[in-house]
Amino acid sequence: MKKALMTGITGQDGSYLAELLLDKGYKVYGLKRRTSTENIENIMHIKNEIEFLSGDLSDLSSLIQAVRASRPDEVYNLGAQSFVADSWPQPVYTAEVTGLGVLNMLEAVRQEQPGARFYQASSSEMFGKVAETPQRETTPFYPRSPYGAAKVFGHWITVNYRESYDLFACSGILFNHESPRRGIQFVTRKVTDGVARIKAGLQKELRLGNLEAKRDWGFAGDYVEAMWLMLQQKMPDDYVVATGKTHTVKNLVEIAFAHAGLKWEDHVVQAAEFMRPAEVDLLLGNPQKAKKKLGWEPKVSFEDLIKMMVEHDLKKYGQ
Ligand code: NAP
Ligand code: GDD
Repeated sequence: MKKALMTGITGQDGSYLAELLLDKGYKVYGLKRRTSTENIENIMHIKNEIEFLSGDLSDLSSLIQAVRASRPDEVYNLGAQSFVADSWPQPVYTAEVTGLGVLNMLEAVRQEQPGARFYQASSSEMFGKVAETPQRETTPFYPRSPYGAAKVFGHWITVNYRESYDLFACSGILFNHESPRRGIQFVTRKVTDGVARIKAGLQKELRLGNLEAKRDWGFAGDYVEAMWLMLQQKMPDDYVVATGKTHTVKNLVEIAFAHAGLKWEDHVVQAAEFMRPAEVDLLLGNPQKAKKKLGWEPKVSFEDLIKMMVEHDLKKYGQ
């Protein structure tokens, strides 16, 4: 039986990847931080099939203990302070967890289990103020947030450990991916949850920031397959994972409100507090390498993704 150790198991991607690995017959170990209140909503349905190990990406000794306890064939480093907007008020913390945390995890693998295959959750935020469109594996990075800068470190230290120590380490440069399990602060879920609350009469307005920003949005369930595929190849490599289509936040708002029979203009208010100090205006990925080498394809369209999320949230509020 193959064994996988995952950080970020309580998050959106961790929950989908755990489902995928359990389906494939893996023994799944999940690194979990101690929290004062339980936060395992995303993995409630599979919690008895996962072996949880206590740890934090900022604590190397906890990662070494986790690798020793699990002796994994594959390590998926999904843990991070992942909310871009919070990386300005918490820049040092973000650098420690999202940046240095990658090095801690790589060190734990190098010291304890150098034969394990390693996946790093890199991000299209690294492209930031984009140097070319669409963005591909060779597009230069120009991060626009402390989060983006931390992810650039995480990417390059992964590449460096592959080249320095011959680790089987891959960096997946994933564009935005969403689902009904997306954290409530991210714009897709904030909108679909807001639509459902408005429909249920719990609120009247939805306060948003920049409606003109463009993102290449896909479905998280599709994207975790690409992570797994990267670790099944003969050689380690880096891949862009994206849909190859981009939409504005305004498009997202239009689809979500219309699906619930609402007029967005009656409810959406632009609010300065949700504008960012530096914005990533446009992300559009070129997934040709992942399609060709991994045989990966996104299955869920943007429209179907937003409808899936709206329907989930309407049901949550009894609509
Ligand atoms: P998420 O839902 O925010 O989950 C983040 C996970 O990281 C949670 O399990 C969280 O645990 C854990 N974590 C936070 N701080 C930690 C720490 N100090 N030590 C150990 N674990 C910690 O994020 P996601 O959307 O699933 O994304 C997964 C990864 O992919 C992240 O690295 C993210 O930056 C990256 N990424 C995401 C996207 C996307 O569009 N979703 C795109 C590109 C890259 P708690 O539950 O305890 O907070
Ligand atoms: N969160 C949020 N809230 N974003 C808003 C809002 C709002 O009220 N109004 C407009 N936006 C815009 C943001 O300015 C940004 O341009 C876009 O919506 C998407 O914001 P998020 O959903 O917060 O995601 P992100 O693109 O910043 O980051 C996500 O994707 C990255 C990959 O590109 C996160 O999942 C990162 O962890 C990930 O690396």
